[in-house]
Amino acid sequence: MNLISLIDWTRENLEGIIASAVHIKQHPEHYNHALAGSILLMIFEKPSLRTRVSFESAMLQMGGHSIYYDLGMSPLGSGKETIADTARTASRYVQGIMARMFRRADMEELGRYARVPVINGLTDHEHPCQALGDLLTIQERKGALQGLRLAYVGEGNNNVTHSLLHACSKMGMQMTVGCPADPAYQPLPEVLAQAESFAQESGGSIAIVYDAQSAVANADVVYTDTWMSYHIPEEEHEKRFHMLEPFRVTEALMQQASPNAIFMHCLPAQRGNEQTAEVIDGSQSVVFDQAENRLHIEKAILVKLLGAKISQ
Ligand code: CP
Ligand code: NVA
Repeated sequence: MNLISLIDWTRENLEGIIASAVHIKQHPEHYNHALAGSILLMIFEKPSLRTRVSFESAMLQMGGHSIYYDLGMSPLGSGKETIADTARTASRYVQGIMARMFRRADMEELGRYARVPVINGLTDHEHPCQALGDLLTIQERKGALQGLRLAYVGEGNNNVTHSLLHACSKMGMQMTVGCPADPAYQPLPEVLAQAESFAQESGGSIAIVYDAQSAVANADVVYTDTWMSYHIPEEEHEKRFHMLEPFRVTEALMQQASPNAIFMHCLPAQRGNEQTAEVIDGSQSVVFDQAENRLHIEKAILVKLLGAKISQ
């Protein structure tokens, strides 16, 4: 089994992984040897703090090992080897592969050719591990997920937005995206159609609005992400800043949400861009819980996909 896109995971899979992460977080010592003898290859084509350090710590804490593999220093990165041959070769050495890549098609090709489980650690298109960790954080803060209102404001054509659309719609949540009316800043139509169909099944709902105020009205969760994702070239930054400025999360915007609303961000964040310092450093912010929960959810993912020896 792979974790390349949440579209392939059922609601039961999502609930199971969250329940497992809750248990692992409460009793990490039961999992000290869960992945003894297992090696995770971690392929990186982009920078990372959280994904690299949390996956590496997860493997070490569960008795396994990880190998950091910078694509820039690989035959694949220099055009001397194919993804297929890289995947088939690596599968002879390790028990699982986690990869952070630019192109979604490359990630899918990796998944097709690998003979060990492949975990998507972010592409330009999706970030499933982030969304799963976020469900854990929301559940901890708010209890049941069904019916909760999550407002995502900012850049909608975004990997984190896409995975949140998949995750929230599968879990029966009500997700509203507030983003510019220009289609370049909106979630891809294909992802919206997928999320709408999952929402119909789960009793959730999906909406897009073009102003931040109506997006966050009565929201239980206000979520934003960087305007300058890793794959966005420097020369686009100024234009994006002006397009996205009306969607900055400020204290005044937070007041439009439910009084108990939490503020979320996958990090890395730029204070003064997608949110003010007062918001991300304020009392409603749970961004470091989110970062911590990446560790617990990734342990649950690794245990599920790589197999486990759990002590009682
Ligand atoms: N949220 C997240 O994936 O962070 P990194 O880019 O630091 O891994
Ligand atoms: N949208 C961001 C997420 C970083 C974790 C990016 O792709 O850079």
